[in-house]
Amino acid sequence: MVELHDIAALRSWTRAARAAGRRIGLVPTMGALHEGHLSLVEVARGRDTAVVMSLFVNPLQFGPTEDFGRYPRDLERDRALARARGVEALFIPTVDMMYPPGSETRVTPGETASRWEGAVRPGHFTGVLTIVAKLFHLVGPDLAVFGQKDIQQAVLVRRMVRDLDWPLEIVLAPTVREPDGLALSSRNAYLDAGARQRGLTLSAGLRDAEAAWQGGERSARRLRELVQAPMAVFPEIRVEYIAVVEPDRLTPVEVATPGTIIATAAHVGPTRLIDNLILGQDAI
Ligand code: PAJ
Repeated sequence: MVELHDIAALRSWTRAARAAGRRIGLVPTMGALHEGHLSLVEVARGRDTAVVMSLFVNPLQFGPTEDFGRYPRDLERDRALARARGVEALFIPTVDMMYPPGSETRVTPGETASRWEGAVRPGHFTGVLTIVAKLFHLVGPDLAVFGQKDIQQAVLVRRMVRDLDWPLEIVLAPTVREPDGLALSSRNAYLDAGARQRGLTLSAGLRDAEAAWQGGERSARRLRELVQAPMAVFPEIRVEYIAVVEPDRLTPVEVATPGTIIATAAHVGPTRLIDNLILGQDAI
């Protein structure tokens, strides 16, 4: 595995890989790697690509009161994990490289970004799309892998690629979970034992909704109630949204069909957790 600390090194590595006939797969991350991130590497390798992983905590996508300053960072560990999983190039730029003084151009998403995560995190998806667009330009990948865990992000990246005629494929990889159902997240590190236990109610509710769907339930209102019920047991949990939506623009539906997404976000103790499922796919 090579480590690339600047744009020139990245460009010359990708040029050499392409000249050698390799297809390139990009896995963008903010580091603090866990099995969820590493599963994206597996997906990219399974598609026969030389995998470039970017590791960059992107200040542009954090709100002023969010956790940019204390976001977990551990380069030693990330480097070892990435190497062990077969990442071929690890791109680790600095903030100044990605946003030199004077940089002001942004990629602004459309209405699909105004809902759900976008409604509670203003500017977040502008930050995400801007950095993802820059990475696409810098790496020029044949495909890029995103996790279903951040479903709205993946939908918006796909929309950007379509809207801007980008010649690459966006691959969605399933959410990796702890054995008890908790979706892996770098932010789980903020949870103490009690909060972690309460955090399980997100996936528990989603599982109940999925079981009901499999039993024939199609009412979005009823599915929402099933997601809400386990969280409602704990007064310490503040549910932000439970969305039952179509997969293209994430607008609410009344009747669920295969492909309908159920997504939820809740404040649990010191952090905010998100989770989702896609109906008619593999069980969570
Ligand atoms: P980050 O939170 O580090 O996540 C990087 C990628 O890993 C995203 O595609 C995310 O959906 C995926 N991921 C996270 N947890 C996962 C899990 N439990 N199962 C499967 N995939 C999981 O998302 C970002 O960084 C940033 O917004 C980024 C796209 C890198 C732009 O800065």
